[in-house]
Amino acid sequence: MNEVLKAIHERRSIRSYEARQVSEAELDAVLDAGRWAPSAMNRQPVKIIAVTNKEYRDTVSRLNAAVMGSSNDPFYGAPCIIIVLCQRSAATGREDATLALSNMMLAAHSIGLGSCWINREKEIFDSQEGKDLLAKWGLDDSWMGVGALALGYIKGEVPASKGRRDDVILKVR
Ligand SMILES: Cc1cc2nc3c(=O)[nH]c(=O)nc-3n(C[C@H](O)[C@H](O)[C@H](O)COP(=O)(O)O)c2cc1C
Repeated sequence: MNEVLKAIHERRSIRSYEARQVSEAELDAVLDAGRWAPSAMNRQPVKIIAVTNKEYRDTVSRLNAAVMGSSNDPFYGAPCIIIVLCQRSAATGREDATLALSNMMLAAHSIGLGSCWINREKEIFDSQEGKDLLAKWGLDDSWMGVGALALGYIKGEVPASKGRRDDVILKVR
């Protein structure tokens, strides 16, 4: 198996992180992998936001938890949150943003970082508090939340794979 196939099989969603921040070089490598994801007609209607500032990180965590009616940290203590938005008007915005998220999870794994897709960004950035946060970052409400990643150094053991269903694949001969 080559390195890419190996990474695809071995990447796991990580749900326990060290508190120390991801190095700038490693973060940049992950973000750049997201930027290099394919997009329809290469329009790239996405915004990849790296949140390392603790105050903002905790705000995003609180808003995410609030969508579930919880007060736990949905980002499992990860010091870095990567939020991916797409242009609401883009026909393939969600697809393009999802590919960026996928690229970044694989890139993180390939350099030994842990990541986990954390949902509910649509609800967060449709809310007034979410829109106010975007405004602070210089982004207007033409941006829609698609997904986010917890990112950081893995604390403890990497969990075993839960496997994949055989019936996902259908070969029509
Ligand atoms: C669209 C999407 C939403 C997800 N949302 C969450 C989430 O909110 N919290 C979480 O812990 N994991 C979340 N996950 C991670 C999945 O649970 C995980 O990918 C799946 O169980 C397979 O495990 P693996 O990634 O380790 O192979 C999400 C994954 C996807 C693709």
